Amino acid sequence: MAEMALEFDADQRHGAPPASEFALAHLSDLHLSSLENLSPRALLSKRVLGYASWWLRRRHEHRAEVLEALRADLRSEQPDHIAITGDLTHLGLPQEFRQAAAWLAQLGGADGITVIPGNHDAYVREPWRETFAQWAPYMKSDEAGEAAWTEGSFPSLRIRRPVALIGLSTAQPSAPFLASGRLGEAQLQRLGRMLEQTAGAGLFRIVMLHHPPAARTVRWRKSLRDGAALRDMLRHHQVELLLHGHAHLSAAAYLDPGLGRNLAIGVPSASAVGSKAERNATYHLYRISRAASGWRLRVCVRSYSLQSGRFHAEDGRRLRLALAAAPAARGA
Ligand SMILES: [Fe+2]
Repeated sequence: MAEMALEFDADQRHGAPPASEFALAHLSDLHLSSLENLSPRALLSKRVLGYASWWLRRRHEHRAEVLEALRADLRSEQPDHIAITGDLTHLGLPQEFRQAAAWLAQLGGADGITVIPGNHDAYVREPWRETFAQWAPYMKSDEAGEAAWTEGSFPSLRIRRPVALIGLSTAQPSAPFLASGRLGEAQLQRLGRMLEQTAGAGLFRIVMLHHPPAARTVRWRKSLRDGAALRDMLRHHQVELLLHGHAHLSAAAYLDPGLGRNLAIGVPSASAVGSKAERNATYHLYRISRAASGWRLRVCVRSYSLQSGRFHAEDGRRLRLALAAAPAARGA
């Protein structure tokens, strides 16, 4: 496998990246929908708990003005592509999917944005055509063409210049008070075949999934149930990078720490403001380029400031500390 030089920097440069670089913005956990004026019928089931959490906390935490600042920042940074790792909604209601689809359309075309589902988007089982089908243009593989994109279609594969984006779905309804995820045997097998087929193509392979793939990034009730099977598979099929959300915190870990391979990086919510600065809205901007011995990957952390009402580059300390403290690095 090609070597990878990893750098955390506070690159202040604005505007289009040079042709030799591929700039990828990673956003997650936008929770951008509003649950105002919801009918009581919509709250039958587990949703009543989610609605209570939205009413008490989330509606104050995930703010429209932050989403507006986020879009302005992305317009200014001009990434080549935007990766969104799920949880665009709160309760996965059809009306929330419509709101999210409208927001995505304002952000850009489906060719330049890749979306995968999060657990909130699959809060309760709903007909696919009323929910995820509305995001299908942003989720489907390049080769899917006009064919329908369904729950069983993942992993997705999209190739953009030197980058292969592989999208997984870990989203599935879970019992009250659980927010776990699962890939399932069939998806893992398809992923294995896809990794075999794309190996040796000289691409920078990025796996996108909502739940953290490293052990112990989140508590059991929020974890990826078949994370161990995924990590096992990736020991045989290395990828350059895995991107995830779900934890609403910065996270970084090598899934194969002994060899320093399969780097997984998690981003906080891109729309939240909270009592702790490290939980404030953040997204990551990756700059990927070829180096003499493999790849160069630069990560720029951009976070929202309540003072300025804008996103700014950070020095990357949060991610460096997260990588140093990763349970995987201690042999978990
Ligand atoms: Fe989540």
